[in-house]
Amino acid sequence: MIDDGFMRAVSGLIVPEMGTDATANLLYWLIRTTRPQSVLEVGMGYTTPFLAQALVDNAEAYESEKALLDDPRGAETQPMAHRAYYDEPYRPQLVCIDRMTDPTSSATRVLDVLDERGLTGVTSVIEADLREAAEQVRERLGLVDFAWIDTWDTLAFLRQYWQLINPAGGVLAIHYLMTYPQGRAILEYAKSLAGPDGGKLEITNLREPHRFGQNSTTLIRRVRDYADPEDLRPQGTENDPVDVLARG
Ligand SMILES: C[S@@+](CC[C@H](N)C(=O)[O-])C[C@H]1O[C@@H](n2cnc3c(N)ncnc32)[C@H](O)[C@@H]1O
Repeated sequence: MIDDGFMRAVSGLIVPEMGTDATANLLYWLIRTTRPQSVLEVGMGYTTPFLAQALVDNAEAYESEKALLDDPRGAETQPMAHRAYYDEPYRPQLVCIDRMTDPTSSATRVLDVLDERGLTGVTSVIEADLREAAEQVRERLGLVDFAWIDTWDTLAFLRQYWQLINPAGGVLAIHYLMTYPQGRAILEYAKSLAGPDGGKLEITNLREPHRFGQNSTTLIRRVRDYADPEDLRPQGTENDPVDVLARG
């Protein structure tokens, strides 16, 4: 969990110019909320331990929730538990790509911190340019449920990795696309990836108004259709949405 000990351990990885001091926490909570099995980071540093810690905390939560499913106390603590969710094991993995050549980045110091915090078990690193790593990512993760991209090479990433982002709800978080023309152009390119083959996209730009650079995170969620079957609560349960959707 994110406690004082964690914050002390990761504090040496902060590079203020990278602008991820708040974003790292945001990523932690996005992963805690959406519980991806497969996470990809491109551009390591301060954010990396937050991603790994989120997966470890998710796995712990999964196990304790599962143990409560047949326990009467579970009805009180998790009355909305969706039992089918626990049929599939939760064995999350984080794959990080970094070419480790940027002297201003804290990427090369991340593994020591992960080790100190017991986070290496969920994490593996590909030391390479992202343009040469797509095949390895596919082998290690298959489809990617959550990706965090923090490099200037986002366009190359989108071109090579788009098909790896899970079309059924996969989330792509991209650092700093707003407030400069090249970033806006990449955002337009990302929008063009939606369509008959790419499915639909939900896009939210979160702007950090107190910064003049590194001042946004864009969230892109791939969805096959509005009424994705896995988004529907089981028929016959309270607020079954099937009727609502049918009425259009
Ligand atoms: C902005 S820093 C990442 C900051 C980090 N997320 C943080 O919170 O501190 C960018 C990192 O991406 C790496 N990088 C940049 N372009 C890359 C590429 N084409 N392939 C692989 N790594 C790259 C650099 O080596 C650097 O460590």
